[in-house]
Amino acid sequence: MLSQVAQTMHKFVKQCENKQVLNLYNQIEQGKMLRSKLILLIAGQTPQAVELCAVVELIHLSSLLHDDVLDEASTRRGKPTIHILFDTKTAIMLGDVLYSKAFSQLSLIHKDVAYCISSAVTALSIGELLDIELSKSFNTNQELYMDMINKKTASLIEASTKSAAILSNKDRDKFAIYGKSLGLSFQIIDDILDITQNSETLGKPAMSDFKDGKTTLSYMLLYQELSNDDKTKLKSYFKKSLTKDELSWIKNNMTKHDILNKTKQIARQLAQNGLNAIKNEQNKKLFDIINDILNRER
Ligand code: IPE
Ligand code: IPE
Ligand code: MG
Ligand code: MG
Ligand code: MG
Repeated sequence: MLSQVAQTMHKFVKQCENKQVLNLYNQIEQGKMLRSKLILLIAGQTPQAVELCAVVELIHLSSLLHDDVLDEASTRRGKPTIHILFDTKTAIMLGDVLYSKAFSQLSLIHKDVAYCISSAVTALSIGELLDIELSKSFNTNQELYMDMINKKTASLIEASTKSAAILSNKDRDKFAIYGKSLGLSFQIIDDILDITQNSETLGKPAMSDFKDGKTTLSYMLLYQELSNDDKTKLKSYFKKSLTKDELSWIKNNMTKHDILNKTKQIARQLAQNGLNAIKNEQNKKLFDIINDILNRER
């Protein structure tokens, strides 16, 4: 079924009737397709669900094209990013073409679904703006972080599960809570993987968040545990290219204070909240996908 989603995405891109757009698109690898997996599990493998998946994956891809420009990331899905292969202007406009094509197709699906998904893109974009703002100084406010990741990441996942419920006449509110909780958990794990994995495994830069000004949850939890001197030291490492020893100092302190487990526990609890919302559903795969999210390596 996921291959049908990929085929539909390709069909939509072809319909843009522009060789450069198709050529650029063809150079991008497929992602993990989490949002599609969720939609198909909830809505069933119908042609309409496949169209929704293609729309959501194109939107997600556009957000990544723009995100990689914002984060100045050199790789994505194991390959150089479009703004590195070509230039920033090309990456931004390819993002706009794919966003708007996705919206055209979305307008043909279902009024409530179209409203739900397009509103999520507003939230996502505001979330990316908040991420930029928060990156300007060392942030220790967990509420601001949670609000930011809710918007930049959870909103589209929430909209995906909610829309799938709308298409299949299931309880949209419960599936919205499920998607939102999963989405928050998903971003917290993404932020952990930036610290624990190497760039080969991730297919994107590793250990880059803190250097880019992102005090993700693990850094905030670590900061709380440190002595005043060490707090000052951590702050002095903020937004800098660090030496091996400085990076080891951070990682060793994370180990010493069991930070990654504590962070993962928060992600696990959020995922559990999501499961509680749909506890009466018979579909075991909706439960299994949580473990895939929590235990993933990329
Ligand atoms: C990456 O999303 C951006 C985040 C929201 C963390 P994914 O991890 O779903 O990216 P792909 O599509 O699998 O590459
Ligand atoms: C990206 O967050 C979220 C969106 C694309 C909206 P990140 O910047 O953490 O995602 P990665 O790590 O580049 O995939
Ligand atoms: Mg990024
Ligand atoms: Mg980013
Ligand atoms: Mg990340």
